[in-house]
Amino acid sequence: MRIDIITVVPELLASPLNESILKRAQESGHAEIYVHNLRDYTDDKRRTVDDYPFGGEAGMVMKIEPVYRCIEKLRSERDYDEIIFTSPDGITYNQQEANRLSLMNNIIILCGHYKGIDYRIREHLITREISIGDYVLTGGELAACVIADSVVRIIPGAIGDEASALTDCFQDNLLAPPVYTRPAEFNGWKVPDVLLSGNFAEIEKWQEDQAWSRTKALRPDLIKE
Ligand code: ADE
Repeated sequence: MRIDIITVVPELLASPLNESILKRAQESGHAEIYVHNLRDYTDDKRRTVDDYPFGGEAGMVMKIEPVYRCIEKLRSERDYDEIIFTSPDGITYNQQEANRLSLMNNIIILCGHYKGIDYRIREHLITREISIGDYVLTGGELAACVIADSVVRIIPGAIGDEASALTDCFQDNLLAPPVYTRPAEFNGWKVPDVLLSGNFAEIEKWQEDQAWSRTKALRPDLIKE
């Protein structure tokens, strides 16, 4: 899978995209992630990517031309399944959306910045608008990292232990059961006996019960859906 991220702050993306699972997924060829500096697609000396809004409101607006040039260049090289814009007024991101995106070949993520972006970009170029939650970030870069991380980790083969991705929280609309590791007792705090029993049918049943009871207690909205 290929992910192209367009941003005015490429520095913000470097570290999160080049560590841990994302790093390994790229090294093993499961994912290719490219970051494009929007300023490279400007045509003036000052590399201007924003301008004052028509109508005279406060704040700056991302200009249409650099974004158009960058997207058109990418589109001339390959087909894209989705051109995503990160914005607090997009659809709220969740595991189902991550699963859907992980099945795609090529996606673009355009990071929003400043007060907003010339709306014609959203009308004519963007195919999906995604928010990572009901709060406002300084820019869409952290949202792009969240999307890239959550998508790449579930590409089949990207993490060594595929079963682990499939048993993630939310994969079946349930929270994950608690997990423990050695020592079996610390400070008098004990690991549940069933996990030490070696009875795998019992263990599985316990894990299912825990997933249900935790979801009911902590996220009842997931069960109602
Ligand atoms: N840009 C600013 N806030 C955002 C959010 N909550 N989700 C996605 N992009 C954003």
